[in-house]
Order: sequence, then C-alpha cells, then structure tokens
Amino acid sequence: MRRLETSHFQLLNFCEGKKSEMPCMIKADNIKYSYPAHESAPVPALCGVSLEIEQGAFVAIIGENGSGKSTLAKHFNALLLPEEGTVAIKGLDTKIEANLWEIRRQVGMVFQNPDNQLVASIVEEDVAFGPENLGIPPADIRKRVDAALQTVEMDAYAEKALYILSGGQKQRVAIAGILAMHPEVIVLDEPTAMLDPSGRREVMDTVKMLNRQEGKTIVLITHFMEEALQAQRVIVMHEGRIVMDGSPREVFLQAKALELVGMEAPEIVHLADILRSKGIPVKPDVMEVPEMVEEIWQLSQRS
Ligand SMILES: Nc1ncnc2c1ncn2[C@@H]1O[C@H](COP(=O)(O)OP(=O)(O)O)[C@@H](O)[C@H]1O
Ligand SMILES: [Mg+2]
Repeated sequence: MRRLETSHFQLLNFCEGKKSEMPCMIKADNIKYSYPAHESAPVPALCGVSLEIEQGAFVAIIGENGSGKSTLAKHFNALLLPEEGTVAIKGLDTKIEANLWEIRRQVGMVFQNPDNQLVASIVEEDVAFGPENLGIPPADIRKRVDAALQTVEMDAYAEKALYILSGGQKQRVAIAGILAMHPEVIVLDEPTAMLDPSGRREVMDTVKMLNRQEGKTIVLITHFMEEALQAQRVIVMHEGRIVMDGSPREVFLQAKALELVGMEAPEIVHLADILRSKGIPVKPDVMEVPEMVEEIWQLSQRS
C-alpha cells in the first residue's frame, strides 16, 4: 500500500480554531500503540493520534480496514493503554489504575457482533448484568433496567429470550445494557456491520436519540458513509493517524483526499453536487436516497 505523508492532510483539520463551550470528555494526546508480534517487528496501529471530543458531541470515525479505528476506540475505555502519550476521560488518565473503575463506568462500548456481548439468555437479565457488577442495590437495578429498555424501545421484550430477537433488536439490548450503567460516553465500533438495512436503521435511530435527547457523547465507528453523515463531526483515519477532521460536509466534499485514503463520499452527496453544478438548487442537507427522491419531487413541482 502506498504510504501517505501526513503533510498532505495538514490543511484538512477543519475543527482547528473552532472553540467549543462544552467541557472536554475525551482527550488523546499524541498516542502511539503497537501490537506485539512474535516473529516479526511489532505492528504499529496508532502513530501519534491527538484529538479532543467534547461532552454531548456525536463523532463518527471512518477509515479503511486496518487504519487503527478499533485500536483507538479501545483506548477510550482503557481496554488498551497507550505506549506513548496520554488518554484522559473527563481529565482521568487511563494509565492510572485508580481511575479505571470510573473510566469504564463513564465510557460504554458496543461492538460489532451482538451475540458476543450479550451474556444472559433473557433480555432484562442481560441488561441488569452491568449494574449488578457495579454493586447497585437491586431496587435501583430494576429501575435502571426498565428505563434503559424503554429508552431503546425494547421494554415490551423485557422477559423474552434473546435468541428470538433480530440483530437490530439484539444490538438495542446491548445498548440498553450499557445505558443501565449510566455512562456519559458510548463508543460503538461498527455496531451495524452485521445487521440488515432495517436493523441498521433501528440502531442508528437509537444512537441519534441517545445523543439528541439523552445528551450522551457518541463515538461511532462505521464503514457506512450514510451513517457518518448523521454525525456532527467526522474523523478520517489512515495508517494509524487522523488525516481529516471536520463536519460531514467539510469532509465528504474533499472527494480527492478521501480517495487517497481509500474512502469515498456517499453517493447521494456526489449526485447532489452534480445536480447543483447543473444549476439545480438541491438543498445542502440532502444525504440519503429518500431525501433525494423527495427533494427532486419538490423541485420538479416548483419548476
Ligand atoms: N490483536 C491484534 N494483534 C496484532 N495486530 C493487530 C491486532 N488488532 C489489530 N491489529 C493491527 O493493527 C492495525 C490497526 O487495526 P485496527 O485498529 O483493528 O483497525 P480498524 O479497526 O481500522 O480496522 C492493523 O494493522 C491490524 O492488522
Ligand atoms: Mg475495527
């Protein structure tokens, strides 16, 4: 694979200079990490990553396979510790053992395969598992489980067996299990990768609602550009580095730069740009197929 110099991307950190009022939730400062290898040199996975994510943000992380997304995500709740540099969650350094309990409570992780993260056979028992481990009193656990299942709209399934659920429903139960621990940050590593389109939509609707209505800070790793478009900020990784960082439009309009790192803007963004270049005033927030169909219909009615 062609190695890109980071200097190609120096102009692409759009967030620089945009000061936020919100407190910093996640701060990574020049972190480096390599996986140990037995018979060869260690595999570098993060080569100096710095970023700040503010409270209440909805950040998508995209990038080719092997670009370091999962490795970075695992640093956010101290599943991995940086070899160099520091990661702090609400100012708590992940390298300090006394901080681990609070960091793991604050940052919930949701992974790709719901079957690997669900631990019980009944929905409500699974959701109760996290708060039980936190030593929460039983009456409070009941309240937390009920509230979490309501939030993800799975309360009707509380007493059902997990195996009868669809993939999307299982992921929502996994999210409820995290919510029951009352985290401030939810990191989701390709949570829709194994789901069908309706499951993907269910999970994305849940994630957006958690951000907008519950005020959770969301870090969503995804390989679906349509999902990244729904975030407020998109970070692009390439070979263990952040190479782009900005609003979805700022990032996805850099078609050439995206191509260099093996990514492509969503098709609807391409189509909207083509239509605009031909003088058709497609509104700026059209990013998905149904919206585009509706917009073209509306524009055709006007002419
Ligand atoms: N457990 C592991 N052992 C050795 N190398 C790994 C391991 N996990 C990931 N890597 C390597 O680290 C790099 C980054 O991987 P990863 O963070 O999983 O990327 P992504 O999530 O973007 O696909 C890749 O080169 C990958 O092969
Ligand atoms: Mg990954």
